[in-house]
Amino acid sequence: MSYGLLKGKRGIIFGALNEHSIAWKVAVKAVEEGATITISNTALAIRMGEINELGKQLNCEVIPADATCYEDLQEVFRRSQEVLGGKIDFVLHSIGMSPNVRKGRAYDDLDYTMLNKTLDISAISFHKMLQAAKKLDAIAEYGSVVALTYMAAQRTIFGYNDMADAKAMLESIARSFGYIYGRERNVRINTISQSPTMTTAGSGIKGMDRLFDYANRISPLGNASAEECADYCMVMFSDLTRKVTMQNLFHDGGFSSMGMSLSAMNTYEKGLEEFMDENGNIIYG
Ligand SMILES: NC(=O)c1ccc[n+]([C@@H]2O[C@H](COP(=O)([O-])OP(=O)(O)OC[C@H]3O[C@@H](n4cnc5c(N)ncnc54)[C@H](O)[C@@H]3O)[C@@H](O)[C@H]2O)c1
Repeated sequence: MSYGLLKGKRGIIFGALNEHSIAWKVAVKAVEEGATITISNTALAIRMGEINELGKQLNCEVIPADATCYEDLQEVFRRSQEVLGGKIDFVLHSIGMSPNVRKGRAYDDLDYTMLNKTLDISAISFHKMLQAAKKLDAIAEYGSVVALTYMAAQRTIFGYNDMADAKAMLESIARSFGYIYGRERNVRINTISQSPTMTTAGSGIKGMDRLFDYANRISPLGNASAEECADYCMVMFSDLTRKVTMQNLFHDGGFSSMGMSLSAMNTYEKGLEEFMDENGNIIYG
């Protein structure tokens, strides 16, 4: 169902790789809500993924850019204004990658060249995006920029590794840049902290299936899906949230405010029975 929330608005969506990607759902929904958009990803992802299909489906231009390359990002903003015919009203940063996670390096055995890459792709790219946009004055008054993040920025989650540090930095950039861009051009910048979601990036996290199940059991509303995340993005891109900025907004079915739920507790109790001796003591070994 469409509400026409983005009628007449122009947007750029970074990070759609395939139909599971959160950015893919956001792109589809933004067009349904009346926006015209461009989409961007790395040249390699465009070659290997299904992004050109999405471009055809939505009748929008696909612009290659490595989000770690400032000049590439400048070109995305320049070209997008050209093809869409004016300043940009909304931007989605939906980009994350950790070579340490990919190579199975534990957090206490990080490769620092890889850590730099993690931070550059997953966090500093957001600063580069904002700086490029601001210097080009490419974002319209009350434009809305959203980056996707995860709660491991605040609380330690097993397996999230150096991506936790990247997300903490990403959220900090939203606040620091949000102050300056808000003060000078009324542009708002927020992060949405999404539930575990089965995507290409999500599936790379160690123990993702169990993390997904645990979060689902703890959250009173259950995990938020990629489609539901796209719905939330629509509201954040719309004129209904003109005074929301510099926030980290949890979109997680209530997970971040929970301690323990009945459903998780039952699972926990059941799960330990096989590790108990005849006296009910847990055998850890
Ligand atoms: N899946 C989850 O559980 C989850 C939960 C919370 C937040 N997030 C965040 O949502 C965002 C989108 O991830 P997703 O889950 O849709 O997975 P995804 O794998 O579909 O998207 C990640 C995207 O990042 C792009 N990317 C990687 N390196 C890049 C670079 N150098 N330049 C430009 N793009 C690059 C990839 O091509 C891909 O399109 C990420 O920031 C992720 O951390 C995901």
